[in-house]
Amino acid sequence: MADEKHREPVEWKDQYKVDVEIIDENHRKFVEIIQRLDRVLNNKACKEDPSDIFYALVHYVEHYLLQEEIYFKNYQYPNFSRHKESHQYFIDQIIRFREEFEKGSETICLEMREFLIEWFREHILSYDKEAVYFLVQKGLNR
Ligand SMILES: [Fe+2]
Repeated sequence: MADEKHREPVEWKDQYKVDVEIIDENHRKFVEIIQRLDRVLNNKACKEDPSDIFYALVHYVEHYLLQEEIYFKNYQYPNFSRHKESHQYFIDQIIRFREEFEKGSETICLEMREFLIEWFREHILSYDKEAVYFLVQKGLNR
């Protein structure tokens, strides 16, 4: 269960960069979504309105995850299907969070925060970095 007392603020750091501008820009935006969610949590406004968070997450899925998949496909990234499965898992979770929110879940913002932080650490800072390294080796423009 998420513990509100141990919420560390999340900040974008230079060490997170992969040095491909469009990807860094999107990862930075992802951090902003977590920060926005923190503001909702700090204002205890989760019950009223996390809808712009859902909107931002849909935008992240449509503009970023798909863009990544296009790169991976074009550059024949060998872990493409595993990476795509991970993206699908993310999409499924966001849909589930939205449904839980509609049903009136009171803990949804905290649960979602935990999930987004985990995604940031395990997917963005690990899988994405590894994949982008491959793309750059293959000649992706920075
Ligand atoms: Fe990814």
